[in-house]
Amino acid sequence: MATIDLEQMLTKVKNTQWALADVDWEAPGAELVTGNPELYAKLKPFMADLMWIEHVGARAFAAMAKVAPTDTLREMYSYFHAEEQRHANAEMALMKRWGMLDGDDDLPEPNINLRLVIEWLDTYADEMPFYVLGTVIPMLEIALGRGLLRDGVHRGRQAPEQAGDDDGLHGGPAPHPRHPHLFPAAQ
Ligand SMILES: [Fe+2]
Repeated sequence: MATIDLEQMLTKVKNTQWALADVDWEAPGAELVTGNPELYAKLKPFMADLMWIEHVGARAFAAMAKVAPTDTLREMYSYFHAEEQRHANAEMALMKRWGMLDGDDDLPEPNINLRLVIEWLDTYADEMPFYVLGTVIPMLEIALGRGLLRDGVHRGRQAPEQAGDDDGLHGGPAPHPRHPHLFPAAQ
């Protein structure tokens, strides 16, 4: 059976932290989205959903950070919790860049399915066994991956290497399969 060196992974997670300030949100290229009405119309609701899915992931990781069986895992999930919140903030920054927010800091409404998941997690996450939470996360990853493929927002991206390293879930220098949408350079 394959094993994972969790200490090594935690070190990598710590060493590959990033901040919103690392990204130039005013970099040229926004017009490739704002000037494409068909893409814009699809991307606007998709980005809102995506931002809320990050919050769902953050909530699940927060719960896992409390019940994980070792100190290493608890610390790692605490990092993942913060990381997912950062992804949500980055997606808000992208929506702002593309003029997709009604006001500069207005939070878009989650769709009804996401609202149900958010309420469910908010109510029950802290009582859930570790293995249930550990199953919910990959399910969300699959849903998110499918959404990315379906909406084609990954097309033409040139995500920087840091996109593959940001939470240690996927490891290696390859572009992150979940978050190619985070980087203005991709648009
Ligand atoms: Fe994320």
